[in-house]
Amino acid sequence: MKTPRCDETEAWGALAGHFEAHGRDFDLRDAFARDAGRFDALSIEAPEVFADLSKNRIDTATIRFLLDLARECGVETRRDAMLRGDAINTTEGRAVLHTALRAPRGKGPFSADVHGVLDAMYAYVETVRDTATSGIRHIVNIGIGGSDLGPQMVVPALDAFAHPGLTLHFVSNVDGHDIAPVLRKLKPAETLFIIASKTFTTQETMANAHAAKAWFEANGGTDIANHFCATTTNTEAAATFGIKTTFGFWDWVGGRYSLWSSIGLPIALAIGADNFRALLAGAHAMDQHFAHAPAAKNLPLLLGLIDVWYRNFHRFTSRCVAPYHQGLKRLPAYLQQLEMESNGKQVDLDGNAVPFATSPVVWGEPGTNGQHAYFQMLHQGTDVIPVEFILVKNVTHDMSDLHGPLLAQLERQHTILLANGLAQSQALMQGKTTAQAGAEKAPTASQQLDPLTLAKHRTFPGNRPSTTLMLDRLTPRSLGALIACCEHRVFTSGALWGINSFDQWGVELGKALATNLLPRLSSGDASGLDASTAGLLARLRA
Ligand code: F6P
Repeated sequence: MKTPRCDETEAWGALAGHFEAHGRDFDLRDAFARDAGRFDALSIEAPEVFADLSKNRIDTATIRFLLDLARECGVETRRDAMLRGDAINTTEGRAVLHTALRAPRGKGPFSADVHGVLDAMYAYVETVRDTATSGIRHIVNIGIGGSDLGPQMVVPALDAFAHPGLTLHFVSNVDGHDIAPVLRKLKPAETLFIIASKTFTTQETMANAHAAKAWFEANGGTDIANHFCATTTNTEAAATFGIKTTFGFWDWVGGRYSLWSSIGLPIALAIGADNFRALLAGAHAMDQHFAHAPAAKNLPLLLGLIDVWYRNFHRFTSRCVAPYHQGLKRLPAYLQQLEMESNGKQVDLDGNAVPFATSPVVWGEPGTNGQHAYFQMLHQGTDVIPVEFILVKNVTHDMSDLHGPLLAQLERQHTILLANGLAQSQALMQGKTTAQAGAEKAPTASQQLDPLTLAKHRTFPGNRPSTTLMLDRLTPRSLGALIACCEHRVFTSGALWGINSFDQWGVELGKALATNLLPRLSSGDASGLDASTAGLLARLRA
């Protein structure tokens, strides 16, 4: 399907003009002073997620031009093609149907297949979670990239819903320093290994799977059938490995969009079938919002449009994600793959080099920890980096084993957390002038330095943009909605840029070269290598 690329539209030119006239010098403080209704006008209520977009460098005119851009680029047409199951991943000739994985029974494409696997997974989950009978205490997910990052992010996020008798471990790196400390804690009879790989050929996962099998047998494990299972589209390869229990999925599920498929098995084992259903239901609610909400109130669409505004007009190179919830500590890493593997592309669907920037760098760490590390640069560094704050209104601690005073203390700490999250977005926007800094007392500052120099060091430029996403509680349903929102936002910017957000050819070259270098590490053969690689190889062998 051919839809115009963003730079081929009239709206692109209009946005360029709007940027020169009102965007480059846009000041958030003035915008709030001018318009008392700004917060109401620029906040959006989507399923499970409230979004305050008002601290972004946008106004209603910007939104109007961006919505024109979406219309001219046919984002809604492309969205409908995705939801219908057209092969929009053109370089692999595949449909992109992660939304079908969370559609209710009988509703989405491939429903019988999807719900057949879910039913089998749920039945298996119940037997393993019956720990008195199964004897399982530890579950080790062995997978990498999309076969790791989703479950590894969701499991700690939903810790309050987890089975208290099961400990989940995640092993991904081919570096043995990843699996070795995990295996040290385990006993074969109490352990279930999940070998998670869409292709079942990925070097790192296969290496760790063999390490796990070797450890299992060397430590008296006998019943591989009961202690190893697989989640893969390549059921034959799993059988060849000796695995009897396999949960399949399909080539129309991209790795980084696969936590809703059988790749989510570790999540279902941790939180149980009903909670996994709620995760899917939350994602489905966001899918419905993306499919049907009017463009001006469509959260993933607006987030994707603002991303393009920042990347291509303001030329911001990165976006920081700061979840103010420790359970979301792996969310930035998850979003890194989702966005950078999807939209880190340099050619359009026809293979033409795009004359504009694509994926930003996505990075971050939870607050408040980040405040004591990278926030200095966000406030006073030379680059402007939009920040995405994620605030969760209510706590979800498992209260059963928490006593009165401790409970009260943790509630207090939650209020401190929220105050900090709010304060950071406020500080980024407000800043502090040199005059304000000079008028303040700074007890820890040097007495030797002249006051003006000191005030300049203590000046904050402000006008630094942020978005705040707010959840009521971090539950399976709200997390499902939040993740689906991020998926659709990445879809939106990719559709505007006219790129294929669903392939990942960029990971291939390094894999091929590693295959070539592997035997050279033993043989020392440096023929045909560049001088740097040859020199490093020689040092590694010395
Ligand atoms: O890094 C490339 C990649 O193909 C990712 O897209 C994918 O999530 C990951 O490798 C793992 O692949 P597999 O699930 O096939 O082992």
